[in-house]
Amino acid sequence: MNPALRYPVARPSLTELEEAYVLDALRSGWISSQGPYLRRFEAEFAARCGTPTAVATGNGTLALHLVLAAAGIGPGDEVIVPALTYVATANAVTYCGARPVFVDVDPATWCVDVDRVGAAVTARTRAVVAVDLYGHPADYPRLREICAGRDILLVADAAESFGARLGGTGTGGLADASTFSFFGNKILTSGEGGCVTTFDPALAERMRLLRNQGMDPQRRYYFPVVGYNYRLTNLAAALLCAQLERGTAMVQRRQQIVATYEKAFADLGALTPQPVAVGVERAPWMASFLVGPAGDGRLRDRLAVELDRLGVETRPFFVPIPELPPYRAAARDDGFPVTTDLSRRGINLPTYADLTDPEVLDIADRVRTALARLSAAAPA
Ligand SMILES: Cc1ncc(COP(=O)(O)O)c(C=O)c1O
Repeated sequence: MNPALRYPVARPSLTELEEAYVLDALRSGWISSQGPYLRRFEAEFAARCGTPTAVATGNGTLALHLVLAAAGIGPGDEVIVPALTYVATANAVTYCGARPVFVDVDPATWCVDVDRVGAAVTARTRAVVAVDLYGHPADYPRLREICAGRDILLVADAAESFGARLGGTGTGGLADASTFSFFGNKILTSGEGGCVTTFDPALAERMRLLRNQGMDPQRRYYFPVVGYNYRLTNLAAALLCAQLERGTAMVQRRQQIVATYEKAFADLGALTPQPVAVGVERAPWMASFLVGPAGDGRLRDRLAVELDRLGVETRPFFVPIPELPPYRAAARDDGFPVTTDLSRRGINLPTYADLTDPEVLDIADRVRTALARLSAAAPA
């Protein structure tokens, strides 16, 4: 082990292809939010997701807000979201003036618990935003059964799940609309960036209108509605065109990395790998494990500190959204037991396409060393 060598938890994979496309965009002068790379990225991303259209946005949070705003969700409406997610899922609902209704997650998928979604539906429910947490798709076929016929929009927050499949269908094509993030730590990245894919042409048209300040596409500087500037730049789209070309290879490489970790830790009782439901191919966004016994997050916290000493950066799972000050009023007496347990025990290990095999094995060794030290130091 070379102690001077530190591993970040995430790092973008940028090659000569990204460099060539970005330079081409730069030299063309199309650096703002119009240009050939934008058109190409939207077309290629839609084709990849199997949807008729894709609407690129400045980031994944904007993608979430854009789809909910375009669906007309507003004050008095309720939107069901999982209690365990990144805060942007809930914030997008709040930006609309609607109320996020939090539902616990399922221990078998770490995604929103479908039975609890059914129980949370009221006459005010306008949308369900399921989240493909740590790359595992939510149970869209069953969610669809709940939403169909009730005029409830089913949105997939697929920020973390590019490349996942469920029953043979890839993310982006599993819900009425799906949102993506291309932040620097995501499987595809443009630094900041996002996209919405949808099967609904009217929803897509409304999103395009709102994304461009609400300007009438037939009449310049005429704004029939209050819109937003949620556009992506052609420079960022150039990066994304390159990333998408390399997408399958990057997903495969990440899959190998996660498989290597899981194999290396198979005999360790202290680490439980992320579950995978039948019919699911997880997107290998970040290798995710639960540390220690159920209900006890102490070992996870100590492991993170020890790994930091050993040069391995990690991430704890998200804090339950109903524990955050803006959302505490939405907490319930019976709590969110699965969310709380996963949040306390979950850890992400370094996962990025450019990690080499010896580096992955080195990180796995450091994890084993850290756990051995902690168990030697534990009181009898
Ligand atoms: C589940 C989830 N939703 C939404 C987002 C928001 O995306 P962005 O950071 O691109 O705004 C992220 C990631 O950052 C995410 O992980």
